[in-house]
Amino acid sequence: MSVKICPRCGGIAEYNAYYGKIMCTRTNCNWEGYPENRLHKIIAIVAVDNNWAIGKNNKLLYNVPEDMKYFRNTTNGNIVIYGYNTLLSFPNKMPLPNRTNIVLYPGSLEYQGITVAHNIENAIKIINSIQDDRPVFVCGGASIYRQMIDLCHEAYVTKIDAATDGADAFFPNLDALPDWTCYDEGLSHIQSVSGFDIRFTKYVNKHLMHDWRRKTEE
Ligand SMILES: NC(=O)c1ccc[n+]([C@@H]2O[C@H](COP(=O)([O-])OP(=O)(O)OC[C@H]3O[C@@H](n4cnc5c(N)ncnc54)[C@H](OP(=O)(O)O)[C@@H]3O)[C@@H](O)[C@H]2O)c1
Repeated sequence: MSVKICPRCGGIAEYNAYYGKIMCTRTNCNWEGYPENRLHKIIAIVAVDNNWAIGKNNKLLYNVPEDMKYFRNTTNGNIVIYGYNTLLSFPNKMPLPNRTNIVLYPGSLEYQGITVAHNIENAIKIINSIQDDRPVFVCGGASIYRQMIDLCHEAYVTKIDAATDGADAFFPNLDALPDWTCYDEGLSHIQSVSGFDIRFTKYVNKHLMHDWRRKTEE
């Protein structure tokens, strides 16, 4: 439990893990602040097929409206980070509305509504400078998942029961990575209106998550 002196009233202020804030314990003082080191939870969100394939020719492999809705609802209001090719694959090549958009690209981009990160280290600095506790969703594509998977605490993986020849973009097979375990198999299968059988599964990066819990509960 982290404790500090309330800068407003001089009382005791304690870290509240639920709100992610340091809050004064005196009932007549409303002071609250953020810890100096932000600890955003980083979550990869992806739709994979039976081969962990995610794309072809810079397009998604399957049209699954239920997954689009899940993606929208889950990431809405939060921080999203993705590569430039993924930005180009969005409708009208525009950033995602109602979210803080960070785009990885080595050069400069003339876009309203995005922050460009020139490398992963720069992206982490940008994330850490955001003074709130919203989760960060890593939204692809393949190169960004590959580079950031070891930084992710969790992964929300929509599994589409299908396979496509010639896919050229893949997500790391989490079942083959020793640090990762599936904690929610999404056992209730959903039949998509587009005909696919899908499951919303969740994986956790055991060591990172343990560390994150320890730090946020200190
Ligand atoms: N199924 C899903 O859930 C899902 C989700 C998102 C995307 N996708 C699919 O994934 C595919 C796109 O993946 P992709 O790997 O081709 O592209 P991407 O990862 O979206 O973007 C690649 C771009 O990001 C830049 N970039 C990558 N790493 C960087 C770094 N560390 N620092 C700065 N810039 C960096 C690259 O620049 P340089 O090449 O110059 O380094 C390149 O311009 C598409 O088919 C898309 O539909 C699928």
